[in-house]
Amino acid sequence: MNALVENGILKQHLIDPVVCIRCNTCEATCPVGAITHDDRNYVVRADICNGCMACVAPCPTGSIDHWHPVALNAPYSIEEQLVWDDLPELQDAASLAPADAASVAALAAALAQTAAPAPVVSASPSSTIPPWSAAHAYTNLYTAKASATAKVTGNLRITEKDSGSDTHHVVLDLGELSFPVLEGQSIAIAPPGVDALGRPHMPRQYSIASARDGERAGYNNLSITVKRVTEHEGKPHFGVASNFVCDLKVGDSVNIVGPFGSTFLMPNHPQANLLMICTGTGSAPMRGFTERVRRESLAKKPHGKLMLFFGARTQAELPYFGPLTKLPAELIDVNFAFSRTPNAPKKYVQDVMLERAQEVLRLLRDEQTYIYVCGLKGMEAGVLDALSTIAQQAGLDWKAQAQAMKAQGRIHFETY
Ligand code: A2P
Repeated sequence: MNALVENGILKQHLIDPVVCIRCNTCEATCPVGAITHDDRNYVVRADICNGCMACVAPCPTGSIDHWHPVALNAPYSIEEQLVWDDLPELQDAASLAPADAASVAALAAALAQTAAPAPVVSASPSSTIPPWSAAHAYTNLYTAKASATAKVTGNLRITEKDSGSDTHHVVLDLGELSFPVLEGQSIAIAPPGVDALGRPHMPRQYSIASARDGERAGYNNLSITVKRVTEHEGKPHFGVASNFVCDLKVGDSVNIVGPFGSTFLMPNHPQANLLMICTGTGSAPMRGFTERVRRESLAKKPHGKLMLFFGARTQAELPYFGPLTKLPAELIDVNFAFSRTPNAPKKYVQDVMLERAQEVLRLLRDEQTYIYVCGLKGMEAGVLDALSTIAQQAGLDWKAQAQAMKAQGRIHFETY
C-alpha cells in the first residue's frame, strides 16, 4: 500500500520545476525507480512512489519536497508533469471526494503490484548530512524566476591550449549582493535565449571552486570550473550552457541561481583530514576546500591532513595542473592519475589510491577523516572498491566503517 494514501486521498509527491536544477540526484537516489525525467522536467510516478523520503535529504534545492492532495483515482500523470513550468495550485484536501473503501483497496492492490517489479537500486553510499562541524549553508536565496546578477571579472582556460578538453575558470563578482557560499556548494547559470520549443533554457549547475571568503580573499566574488561540452556519448553535441559560460567576456553580466547544497561541505574543526578524489571539473569543490585550508594555514591555524587523487586523460587535460603542482607538500599530498598518456600505462584514480594504500589506510583508520568524491559517475564503484580493498587488506571491516561514515556525514559523493 502506498503510505501516502490517507482517508481515500493521495498526497502526491511532486517536484517543483521552478526550483529544480535537474541534477539527477533524486532519480539516482530513489530506491524504487519512481522518478524519471525528459530534457525538461524531473517527475514522480504516483503509482510507484511510496513516500520513503530517500530522495528528500540529498536534493540540493528542496524542489523535491512537495506533496499535493489529489483524488486517489486522479493523480497528475507523468505526461502532465513533464510539461509543467510551475507546480499546480494546491487543492484543499477537504474539497476532494475521498474514494470509497473498496476503491482504495483495489487501487492499493494495483499500486502494490505496480511498485513490486520496479527496479530497486542499491542505496547511495553518500552521507545525507554534512560533517558535524560544517558551517551553516544558505540555500535557494535566488531562483530561476528571481535570479541574481553577477559580473564576469575573469575567464581563463585552465587546460592546455592544444588539449582536447577546453575547461575554464570563470570568476563572477556579486558586487553589493548578499550571496553567501561555502566550499562544496554550487550555483546554476541560466543561458539566455530559448530552446527548440521556445521555452527559456534551464539553469545548469556548477560547483563553486573558490573559498567562502571569495575567489580573492575578502572580495564578494566566487569562481566556477566549466568544461565546454562539444560531444555526448561519442556524438557531437553542443552544450548550450557550457558554451555560453566558456565564451563569457570580462564585463559581461550573467544570471545566477542558488546557492545549492547543504551536505557536500567541509568540516570546520582543525583535526579534520580531507581525502579528496576527483576527475575533471569534479576538482572544483576540492579546489575550494584546499584554498580554505591554505588560507587558514597562512593565518597559522592548525589543520589536518589533505590528500588528493585527481584523474584526467592527460596532464594537458587536467584542470589547474600548474597551480596544483605548486602547493606545498606540507599542505596537501597530491596524486595524479592519467589514463591516456602515450607510452604509459592507463591509470585511474582508484589505481593510484591502491599504489598509495598505506597513506590512504592511515586516513581511513582516523575517525577525523572525511572523504569527498566528485566527477564521473563511473568512478564511484571503482573508488569504493579501492577503499574496500585497502581497508580489508588491513583487517578493517569496510562495510561497517562505510555505514558509520555515511551516518556521521563523513563520506560524500557528487558524481554525474
Ligand atoms: P578514460 O581515458 O578511460 O576516458 P573525462 O576526460 O571524460 O572527464 O574523464 C576524466 C578521467 O576519468 C579520464 O582519465 C577517464 O579515463 C577517467 N575515467 C573514465 N572512467 C572511469 C572510471 N570508471 N573510474 C575512474 N576513472 C575513470
